Amino acid sequence: MLVGYLTGCPPGASLPSEDDRLVAALRRPAVLLRPATARFLGRAALDLATVCRREPSASGELKDDRWPAHLHIDVAPEARGTGAAYGLMDAWTGLLGGAGCHLQTLVENARAIRFFERCGFVPYGPSPTVPGVRHRGARVHQLTMVRPLPAA
Ligand SMILES: CC(C)(COP(=O)(O)OP(=O)(O)OC[C@H]1O[C@@H](n2cnc3c(N)ncnc32)[C@H](O)[C@@H]1OP(=O)(O)O)[C@@H](O)C(=O)NCCC(=O)NCCS
Repeated sequence: MLVGYLTGCPPGASLPSEDDRLVAALRRPAVLLRPATARFLGRAALDLATVCRREPSASGELKDDRWPAHLHIDVAPEARGTGAAYGLMDAWTGLLGGAGCHLQTLVENARAIRFFERCGFVPYGPSPTVPGVRHRGARVHQLTMVRPLPAA
């Protein structure tokens, strides 16, 4: 039974960036015409015109040679707190062989942040508003985390 995945991009991978894929998706009329997409774009425009005029908005992926690899992890609710997430992270760490790695989550995702901190990641950089995204009706903020620690 599949209970989760970790998908990672190792150093030197030449995949399209998240920004490139977002722009490509938005160029497809079928995507733009979806009500959910229209609602998201409306909220994003509102955020950019209001809160993001006073403070920086999320600026996309971290592009820093110290942490070239990045990952996404998602474990099904029934497998959380069982060690499955650690198993996935250990396998990824073994593949990386000490290379720097980053991930991006949300300040509001407290459980994930605790898990990542126990895996050795530390918060890095600012925590800007993510335009258009809401959790329980409230705006959310991007959090970048890196491993190993930034050099002093
Ligand atoms: C983020 C996520 C992967 C973290 O996984 P998790 O299992 O919920 O994390 P937990 O902190 O509960 O897992 C660790 C706990 O599992 C348990 N555990 C660890 N190893 C274990 C083992 N071998 N046997 C049994 N239990 C074990 C422990 O209770 C451990 O807590 P501890 O480190 O304090 O001892 C998971 O919550 C998730 O997929 N969330 C939704 C998607 C998401 O938010 N992804 C991140 C977006 S960037």
